Amino acid sequence: MSSIWGQNLSSIAKNSRPSPIREMLAVIKQPGMISFAGGMPAPEIFPVDKFYEGAHLLKDDAANLLQYGTTEGYPPLKEFLATWTAPRMGRKVDHDEILITTGSQQALDLFGWAMIDEGDYVIVEDPSYLAALTVFFNHGAKFLGVPVDHLGMQVELIPGIIEKARSEGKNVKFIYTIVNFQNPAGSTMSIERRKRLVEISKKYNVPVFEDDPYGYVRYDGDHLPSIFSFHDGDGVIYAGSYSKILSPGTRVGWVTGPKEIIRNMTVFKQGTDLCSSPITQALVAEYCSKGYLDEHLPVIIDNYRKKRDAMEVSFEKHLKPLGATWVKPEGGFFYWLELPSINTNELFKKAIEKKVAFVPGAPFCPMEGSGLHNARINYTFSAPDVIEEGVSRLAEAIQEMGIPAL
Ligand SMILES: Cc1ncc(COP(=O)(O)O)c(C=O)c1O
Repeated sequence: MSSIWGQNLSSIAKNSRPSPIREMLAVIKQPGMISFAGGMPAPEIFPVDKFYEGAHLLKDDAANLLQYGTTEGYPPLKEFLATWTAPRMGRKVDHDEILITTGSQQALDLFGWAMIDEGDYVIVEDPSYLAALTVFFNHGAKFLGVPVDHLGMQVELIPGIIEKARSEGKNVKFIYTIVNFQNPAGSTMSIERRKRLVEISKKYNVPVFEDDPYGYVRYDGDHLPSIFSFHDGDGVIYAGSYSKILSPGTRVGWVTGPKEIIRNMTVFKQGTDLCSSPITQALVAEYCSKGYLDEHLPVIIDNYRKKRDAMEVSFEKHLKPLGATWVKPEGGFFYWLELPSINTNELFKKAIEKKVAFVPGAPFCPMEGSGLHNARINYTFSAPDVIEEGVSRLAEAIQEMGIPAL
């Protein structure tokens, strides 16, 4: 007989999925393990002193900051974001077009509340960000996957996918894309595809969720305008985050979009956490408005570019001879390795014995059977010499699986 909890759980809870990455973290914490698994910023470059300067606010503005805040977000932070993001968004957005969220993960959840009914379909990249797939799934969504190449989501396939789905009576609710330095694929959607996606969205009346936590962490080339900036109507919602450009511990993110959907999401936020922490919002706003964010971004970019380059050199040296392929990311946190003759779930076990961890590809793939020969490799967390050692361990693990050097 099931327990008092089992008997009374919601059907959503009975069907919910735990995150395979979170479950994996226990193994990764073993001593001596080199981890390419997480998606974490490098702690040695957190801007500790500059961030701490704002701590005086805890006394000086205690009456506001130790109190509940508004659900919509701390006004000075919204003002900063409206101005700071204007070049990317194509214009300065209004305050009621921005909602501050508890990390951009919450934007995904609130959007799920606002948009998804049980059995609805969401068009996602294949592969895609695991925790977005998880949260949409937990809201009852099913997925239609669109492959990703070096220019991002292959948007030209979307019309056919929507038409087929509709002819089968499926309800397609929105398109979810990670536009810059995709997690996990590392690729960036070209301008042509961004524009084409907007055309498709308008033609089929299917909105777009543009997720962009990595967009400001660009090592090479020029920043690209957001999909939001190409949509003169109201069909795109854009999520940003401080997690990769300042600190994930702040849990401060934002979502920009048409007033109507922002209002819907705000209503769900009222019932989720009432408001994001006024303390961290104020510390972030203070830090940013002193110009420290703009000073810090080049430090992050310089640090991660060196690590990305170290990873590239190590891949060329150790993995290319073993038949691995990859796209060099122009920014962000990840490489997506393709190892044609290797099952990466098996490789994961071998790699753990060699004390190097990565995330196998399959959990990132919405479509059954994809990703079995892929590995997501993070390079921002480890120092360049550790990266070299980790990749050489990975190569040993691959060789022990019986792959002859070419
Ligand atoms: C694509 C993508 N979206 C959203 C998030 C959530 O980030 P946060 O909630 O820390 O802002 C992440 C985190 O890794 C991510 O990779």
